[in-house]
Amino acid sequence: MTRILGIETSCDETGASIVEDGRRVLSNVVASQHDLHARFRGVVPEIASRAHLERLGPVIDESLERAGVELRAVDAIAVGNRPGLIGSLIVGVSAAKALAWALDKPLVGVDHVRAHLWAANLYETVDDTPPPPAVGYPALGLVVSGGHTSLYEMAGPTKLRVIGRTIDDAVGEAYDKAAVILDLPYPGGPNLDKLAGTGDGRAYGFPRSMLGAESLDFSFSGLKTAVLYAVRGRPVGRGGEAHFERSANDLTEEERRDLAASFQAAAVDALIRKIDRAIDQREAGGETTKSLVIGGGVSANSLLRERVKEFGERRGIAVFVPAMRYCLDNAAMIAGLAHEQLQRGDVADLSLRAVARGGV
Ligand code: KG4
Ligand code: ZN
Repeated sequence: MTRILGIETSCDETGASIVEDGRRVLSNVVASQHDLHARFRGVVPEIASRAHLERLGPVIDESLERAGVELRAVDAIAVGNRPGLIGSLIVGVSAAKALAWALDKPLVGVDHVRAHLWAANLYETVDDTPPPPAVGYPALGLVVSGGHTSLYEMAGPTKLRVIGRTIDDAVGEAYDKAAVILDLPYPGGPNLDKLAGTGDGRAYGFPRSMLGAESLDFSFSGLKTAVLYAVRGRPVGRGGEAHFERSANDLTEEERRDLAASFQAAAVDALIRKIDRAIDQREAGGETTKSLVIGGGVSANSLLRERVKEFGERRGIAVFVPAMRYCLDNAAMIAGLAHEQLQRGDVADLSLRAVARGGV
């Protein structure tokens, strides 16, 4: 039995978790900073790193306490060290190094994006109930978050090849920006999702960007602009004189609901069409796909969850969607994937660095 302490500080959630043998979550503590960033309607990096510094110690203590595990009893320390906000990542990486050194335990550096694709494997302790099935490979992976919208061919949990990515905005970013255009409160994604559930997704014909006929890449900036123009009209005037004649205040409640629903229908449709295309291409190349696995903040989206399940039934592919608490940033996914890495001897030393960009 291996118990790993995971640490996550890549953006605006301070997380610590104890996971047993890669999948069984003994504790998962997340201190969200939404309250601190709300009035700026987005994450302020300087505020985020300061808050991680204040909160990480107590969050780690609480994760040990809830799991009923002594710090000395953990088998390894794992940290999400890439990609993310550099000032935020440094807090987690420094803490993990200090713990690994003081306790003389292995240190594992985990890629945050890969960890999102591990999240669907996590489950909680329920006495004798058998664990839910784990993701089978080869798999198609879709990461949909505030920073990423990427498709992967997965030969295993750490063997990934990018086959498509966004050429402009990430889908979570498009959600957050559309929410600002519709004057919804922060955090935008979940609030837009909620409002969309009450509207008519066919009311506005927003674009589903497919790019080239073979392309597996995504584009969401056209959709975002279409929502902007639908809400505020086309800009009048040129250069510094340009202005909009309408604002979100001019919308009726019904229009606002229908705009949210139509945005959501277009965004999710674009994702599903690309998954379909990827499976078609794999089939044409004689490759089988056992599973579709999704992860990242937008995998909490109600319509996407519904549509990927339908997709799985239609195409005869097992679909893995994380439990809601493991969709958004959390440390359980870091500790979980670290177990795979540890088994393969993929261990870091004290030269481990925080890396803002890159990874898969
Ligand atoms: O994975 P995550 O917590 O952070 C990153 O790694 O980026 O994802 C955060 C993103 C935000 O853009 C947020 O608006 C979006 O996930 N999000 C949602 C929903 N819940 C979170 N987007 C659409 N519908 C949701 N229910
Ligand atoms: Zn994330």
